[in-house]
Amino acid sequence: MRNIFSKSSKKVDEKDLSLDRLPKHIAVIMDGNGRWAKKRGLPRTAGHKAGIEALREVIRTCSEFHIGYLTLYAFSTENWKRPVDEVSALMQLLVYYLRKEVKELHKNNVKIRTIGDISRLPENSLKEINSAVNLTKNNTGLVVNIALNYGGRNEIINGVKEICQKVKDNEIDIEKIDEHYFEEFLYTKGIPDPDMVIRPSGEFRISNFLLWQIAYSEFWFSNIFWPDFNRESLIQAIIDYQKRDRRFGGIK
Ligand code: IPE
Ligand code: IPE
Ligand code: MG
Repeated sequence: MRNIFSKSSKKVDEKDLSLDRLPKHIAVIMDGNGRWAKKRGLPRTAGHKAGIEALREVIRTCSEFHIGYLTLYAFSTENWKRPVDEVSALMQLLVYYLRKEVKELHKNNVKIRTIGDISRLPENSLKEINSAVNLTKNNTGLVVNIALNYGGRNEIINGVKEICQKVKDNEIDIEKIDEHYFEEFLYTKGIPDPDMVIRPSGEFRISNFLLWQIAYSEFWFSNIFWPDFNRESLIQAIIDYQKRDRRFGGIK
């Protein structure tokens, strides 16, 4: 049986990467911070801190390869179930990260956006996010979509509600609702669907991430914990992606 885990021990040869067939949109479930820390006898928050280093490297690499969009799952609608201390540490780390990195990201022409219901985030996180989004809004390089208080089901329900309201107000005819119209009501409006979804940490699940958008995405799983994910891991993932035969339901 083929091992679906990428062998992280294998040396990655960058020459195997076809620069003319890169994915336009990569989505990442940044998972495994807690287990990374546990393995080292450290508190879970140390894992989250270490995860920021991986994040930095992945953004830099995507920028370098001129990838169009990078969507990062940072906090799910279900992550509120965690102890308040951990939730608050995650929120403060977000502030710390943005404060520290935003100038550099801006200099590199990165555009920061968010997906998810950010209104529930603490005030100082919201302030930092808004200022980063504002500062970088006219940038034309890599679009970094940070999924915060994001849930795929929640996103779909919100879209349905907005459309129902329009029907109720006689603004649109039901016949107008098709896939294309529906997408206008998602957080990812205007962004192409992810070509690939990367999930490290050894889990094989989607955890409520981009449920609508992943209809034809390629999945890449690995047992590396997120803080250990680096440039090489990303290149390996893209090389593997380039070997896939995407048929979208058709035949060759
Ligand atoms: C991902 O790492 C970070 C968030 C979900 C915010 P985890 O905290 O889920 O790490 P594990 O899965 O417990 O190892
Ligand atoms: C998914 O990871 C959410 C993020 C990485 C932000 P989780 O750790 O929350 O997912 P489950 O609980 O293992 O499915
Ligand atoms: Mg996890």
